[in-house]
Amino acid sequence: MARTLTFSIFRYDPCAPAVAPRMQEYRLEQLDGMTLFIALNKLREEQDPTLRFDFVCRAAICGSCGMLVNGRPALACKTLTSALPDRITLHPLPVFRLLGDLTVDTGSWFRQMARRTGSWVHSGKPFNPHAPEERMDNELANEIYELDRCIECGCCVAGCGTANIREDFVGAAGLLRIARFMLDPRDERTPRQFFEVVGTDEGIFGCLGLMACQDLCPKQIPLQQQLAYVRRKMARAAFEKDTARA
Ligand code: FES
Repeated sequence: MARTLTFSIFRYDPCAPAVAPRMQEYRLEQLDGMTLFIALNKLREEQDPTLRFDFVCRAAICGSCGMLVNGRPALACKTLTSALPDRITLHPLPVFRLLGDLTVDTGSWFRQMARRTGSWVHSGKPFNPHAPEERMDNELANEIYELDRCIECGCCVAGCGTANIREDFVGAAGLLRIARFMLDPRDERTPRQFFEVVGTDEGIFGCLGLMACQDLCPKQIPLQQQLAYVRRKMARAAFEKDTARA
């Protein structure tokens, strides 16, 4: 017999602050292979057209459907309702600016993070559109590709203890970005220049090592390994900096 699910969903519109935030309940019969994406669309189509949430790809690629599912950051399009209890509580991801109900603005957060970490290859070489592609060792290219798999869903940031208490923390996603450019031989930044960006408590030294980022990453990116790599590099850069000053 089909299971009846009870959804308790956070409702709030920041543009209508007179209406207080509240939890609203909906009931829905579970279908075979139902994901939260399917469930939320059914609720919106059949019960409440005002319900706000985001989806684009439905395939864990675009990163827009992150939300708190029973208190845990997750991608709604990748979460099967059969893996959840009868009662499902949905909240928007914390840390990010709330746009309404389950919709948050991860775009602005990731844009400021990209600017702050200088998320592009820094090279003094003049740009020549006719130059042949620079060759790269396959193994290194794969290592870089592994770090480029981040879909910017924000689950690691929302689940991070430090990011939840300090809004200036660069987050695991930002530190992963730094690790990616540190690995890239085309990026001419020195360890000291990277240190100026993330060698602080708002950067790598603010990480408490609680591992939630890695546990919650829907793409299984080995974040803690990358954070440890950045931490080692930055500790060495700090030492060299102090030694140079002495
Ligand atoms: S809809 Fe694209 S990641 Fe879920």
